[in-house]
Amino acid sequence: MTQSELEYNLSTAVVVPVTSIPAKQAALDVAKALADGGIHVIEITLRTDAALSAIEAVANGVARGEVQTAVGAGSVTTVEQIASIRESGATFAVTPGFSEQVSNAMIEADIPHIPGIATVGEAMRGMALGLRCFKVFPAGILGGPAYLKAISAPLPGIRFVPTGGINEGNLKEYMALDSVLACGGSWITPSKLMKSGDYAKITELARSARAVSAA
Ligand code: 3PG
Repeated sequence: MTQSELEYNLSTAVVVPVTSIPAKQAALDVAKALADGGIHVIEITLRTDAALSAIEAVANGVARGEVQTAVGAGSVTTVEQIASIRESGATFAVTPGFSEQVSNAMIEADIPHIPGIATVGEAMRGMALGLRCFKVFPAGILGGPAYLKAISAPLPGIRFVPTGGINEGNLKEYMALDSVLACGGSWITPSKLMKSGDYAKITELARSARAVSAA
């Protein structure tokens, strides 16, 4: 996948589910549940021991044709993690904050990525590397849609994936902004539902998020 294919995939997904998979076994079922709800992308954060094997399980499911999903690694914070995420089969990566070192290494490794930023200055540092799309984290605490509107003014053509504090209740307000490519969030894959294996409810949450943003 190329960087522009990633950005296209995120824009059609509307919501990027940020998932902290409790166990490898759940991963493919969660990806399938999301796909059933119309979301063909999953960000699996490197916050649990099962993360890399969970990415691998989804990537294998994709290779077998069981699900059509772009699977990415989230919460990537170091250059050292890049080799293992590539090995796991992740096709993209997301970082919570901005690091020239990490972004340069991603570009060199040819792994499309969405780096996190919280300020205009960080966006400018990313733009100097040729990047045009950034996760804005933690969007809610930074000031929500009003903050995004303010920072997008001097950055024409730059697209954002706000994450942090987004849910079905405020999704529409974020998606109404031209600068917003997609929204990230964990509300569609709550750990309680993943642990209990309530995949039908995950499908319902995915479907409902897409309906809210389309309305
Ligand atoms: C992330 O890493 O993107 C966040 O933890 C997601 O934030 P949320 O849980 O508020 O959706």
